[in-house]
Amino acid sequence: MRYLESGKGRALILLHGFPLNAEEWLPQLAAAPSGWRVIAPDMRGFRGAGSIDAPVSAEMTVDDCASDVLALMSHLDIDRGVIGGLSMGGYVALALVRKAPERVEGLVLANTRAGADSPEGRAARDRMIDLVRREGPGAVAREMLPKLLGETTKREQPDLVDVVRGLAEANVADGLAAAIHAMKTRPDSTPMLGSIRCPTLVITSDEDTLIPASESEKMAAAIPGARLHVIAGAGHLSNLEQPSAFTGSGLFSTDWA
Ligand code: MLT
Repeated sequence: MRYLESGKGRALILLHGFPLNAEEWLPQLAAAPSGWRVIAPDMRGFRGAGSIDAPVSAEMTVDDCASDVLALMSHLDIDRGVIGGLSMGGYVALALVRKAPERVEGLVLANTRAGADSPEGRAARDRMIDLVRREGPGAVAREMLPKLLGETTKREQPDLVDVVRGLAEANVADGLAAAIHAMKTRPDSTPMLGSIRCPTLVITSDEDTLIPASESEKMAAAIPGARLHVIAGAGHLSNLEQPSAFTGSGLFSTDWA
C-alpha cells in the first residue's frame, strides 16, 4: 500500500475521495503542525494499487478498504489514531469505526454522508462501472469533474481543474470499477451514528452539490457532541479548494466538543 507521510507524533490518517488518490491530501501533509504525524494512503484499487501482484476484486467493499487502513496502522505501529475521510474516504472511515472503534481516537468526516445509495444511485453506479470499463479513467474524470469543484474554485482557481483531472487519470479502470462497487454496496451507517463515542468533526462546504451541506448537518446532529464546520467558497473537494480553511477547521485537534 503506498502512503504519504509527514511529521512525527499523534497520528492523523487521511482517506481520499473518489476518483482521486493520496495526493489529494498534499496541502494537509504540508501543513502538519509539530506534534502530528499525517499519513495518507492510496486506498485499495486507486492508482493501480493491487493490480500487479494481487488484482483488486471487482467485489471490493468499504470494509475491505477499512481493513487495509487498520493493517497499515498496525504496520506503522499506530494503535490509535485520528481517522479523517473525505467523501468515499468518509464511507471508509465510518466502516473503520464500525469494525474497530477502539482504534479511533477522533473522527473527521468531510463532505461525506452516512446513508447508503438509493436505488437510483445504485443504477447510476452501474452506468459508471460500464463507462469506466468501456472508456477508462478519463471518462470518469470527464463525468465527475464538473461536480467535484465548486463554482468559486472554477472561477478563481481554474488550474485546480487540471490538478484534479491528473489525480483522476492516474487511476486504472479496474481499480475505479472496484471502488464504485464498494461505494454502491456500502451499508447505511445512520443507525450507528448515535453510538460514536470519539470526538468528531464534520466538515462541509457551501458549494458542494454532490453531497449537500444538509447531509452533513443531519450527520453531525446524530453524532453525540460532534462539531459541524462549514467552509465558504468550496465545492465537494473542500480540502483542495480551500486548504487553509480546511486545516483551520480544527483538523489538528480533537477538542471539538
Ligand atoms: C467521492 O467524492 O468520493 C464520491 O463522489 C462519493 C460518491 O460518489 O458517493
